Amino acid sequence: MASTFLPKHTLLFSLLLFFLTPSSSTASPSKTSSLAADVSPRTQAEKLIRGFNLFPRESVNIGAGDVDSAASLASGGKIVESRLKLPLLGNSGSSIQDLGHHAGYYRLPHSHAARMFYFFFESRSSADDPVVIWLTGGPGCSSELALFYENGPFHIANNLSLVWNDYGWDKVSNLIFVDQPTGTGFSYSSVDSDIRHDEQGVSNDLYDFLQAFFAAHPQLAKNDFYITGESYAGHYIPAFAARVHQGNKAKDGIQINLKGFAIGNGLTNPEIQYEAYTDYALNMKLITQSDHDNINAMLPDCKQGIKQCAAEGGNACVNSYEDCTSIFNKIMDIAGDINYYDIRKSCEGDLCYDFSNLETFLNQKSVRDALGVGTIEFVSCSSTVYEAMLTDWMKNLEAGIPALLEDGLKVLIYAGEYDLICNWLGNSNWVHAMGWSGQKQFGTSATVPFVVNGAEAGLMKSYGPLTFLKVHNAGHMVPMDQPKASLQMLKSWMAGKVAMTGADSEIAPS
Ligand SMILES: *[C@@H]1O[C@H](CO)[C@@H](O)[C@H](O)[C@H]1NC(C)=O
Repeated sequence: MASTFLPKHTLLFSLLLFFLTPSSSTASPSKTSSLAADVSPRTQAEKLIRGFNLFPRESVNIGAGDVDSAASLASGGKIVESRLKLPLLGNSGSSIQDLGHHAGYYRLPHSHAARMFYFFFESRSSADDPVVIWLTGGPGCSSELALFYENGPFHIANNLSLVWNDYGWDKVSNLIFVDQPTGTGFSYSSVDSDIRHDEQGVSNDLYDFLQAFFAAHPQLAKNDFYITGESYAGHYIPAFAARVHQGNKAKDGIQINLKGFAIGNGLTNPEIQYEAYTDYALNMKLITQSDHDNINAMLPDCKQGIKQCAAEGGNACVNSYEDCTSIFNKIMDIAGDINYYDIRKSCEGDLCYDFSNLETFLNQKSVRDALGVGTIEFVSCSSTVYEAMLTDWMKNLEAGIPALLEDGLKVLIYAGEYDLICNWLGNSNWVHAMGWSGQKQFGTSATVPFVVNGAEAGLMKSYGPLTFLKVHNAGHMVPMDQPKASLQMLKSWMAGKVAMTGADSEIAPS
């Protein structure tokens, strides 16, 4: 339970408070005296969760529910998967009669007692379609958020019925959603020590899962494989891709046919992305030029902290999170009630989005029985997992990408243009600054429209295996705001013709 949680962390956060106190008492003019209250990681995590109108009963899925009975679902390093039969409204648009929807648990072998929960949806079009895995960020938010509100096969209607999504990514892929890191969603353990604190732990667990998944579905191992996700997955994804690539090179286990990865509104290179906040906010008229210049006075501390984090890890990373988050919070103080995931929208009180039906839906007995989750809690977003990853937050995950590009993996970095928190400008900046053999050519490539149904749905730039796409009329959650464009993007990119923008590559609902 949360109350028995991590002695290591308690220590970490006492240290954090210790460091914050002097920093606010000797506050420079650019730092507000309410800094400690504003930036406390737990407060940030709770704000995130309330902003989605989510109320998880537990702060982490450790020891909640009847672990022993659920343990029999997956033991001995094995995967236990069962067929899902959920009532669905509308038309799947599929020619495949017997649509395969599955949910399962996997006993993570490099853990004491952790089980990873996942959904697997067979493609509505062809068993030969690529296998795509999706990771939601947070850190600590369940991938079911994306499944039910973004790119899954179905959405939750207001009356809690499930309705087919005409633009689910399972229209062009065999699609997997995993709850991770351990403690998130339905993924659980009985012990705190299974909580992950860095990308090494995260990517090893994901790699182990993938090996077990392809062992259980050998017919899919020959298919192309892509890693996708959003937000904090901008950290998970490059690490996971590098882990798979490394396993392949070492000829470990099953060869995974990794072709590339896509990151949507991600946090990948904090130093560049935190620097871009004020520029983006100024461009979007959220702040004035003088606000911009004042807030930028906080940048040197943030950048220095990031360097220290890279050198020392641990508390230096938590400190830099504090310093850098103050920049973001200062912008939000000025911008007011805007939804930082979509600056066209405002937040009413704490409420920025309403994803509460997700918890209501997943807590129904009939649904829980269908999913085989026993009495395991659903932790929509875990503040404990969020905090546990604070030492990882300011790490630069861009560093591992050039080697993957040189080996020919396709990389797509896309961003909805109205998101502030992982805005397109910061993403574009690091993508342009990334050193690799095609950097110069990428920089001088033309920006071209990304056309969907004859209309410009975004602006795109690519060279060789690297593509950057700014998506119009979308915030942080691109598949939610622009479902058709996002499906088109995935399909064209996987087919290696994201630059081909004609009616021939169009995706129409059936
Ligand atoms: C629930 O909502 C869906 C989608 O709006 C609708 O098709 C369905 O008829 C509704 N069901 C009931 C029982 O009202």
